[in-house]
Amino acid sequence: MNKTSLSLLLLLLPLTAAAEPFPKGDAAAGKKLHDAKCVACHQRLVGGNGSDIYTRIDRKIQTPKALLQRIAACNAQVNAGWFPEDEEHAAAYLNRQYYKFK
Ligand code: HEC
Repeated sequence: MNKTSLSLLLLLLPLTAAAEPFPKGDAAAGKKLHDAKCVACHQRLVGGNGSDIYTRIDRKIQTPKALLQRIAACNAQVNAGWFPEDEEHAAAYLNRQYYKFK
């Protein structure tokens, strides 16, 4: 790699980082939290493995902010006792898996 393309790459790195809506979220940790606390109730609602709640045609969540708010609301509903970091992990997981917000 020559000098110019290296400095171009370094210039672009922060941009790609900014495109990630949940930069502090750890999707792998989020999956564990989600599977432990969130799946059973959604399964009762939509059947299957519960993921249809995220992929149904008329799903409610259209923005990263709304996703975090919904996770916080569902968390409060179940008393999962998650910290804000946990909500961000779950958001990163659901976003990677289903919502794909940029
Ligand atoms: C007590 C039952 C219950 C539990 C437990 C639950 N949810 Fe939900 N969740 C719901 C219901 C009901 C809806 C649908 C709300 C609607 O259609 O407006 C929903 C919808 C959602 C949606 C929005 C889906 C869409 O339309 O795009 C997200 C995201 C979500 N839940 C995340 C979570 C997370 C994360 C947890 C674990 C902390 C969780 N839920 C636990 C009942 C629950």
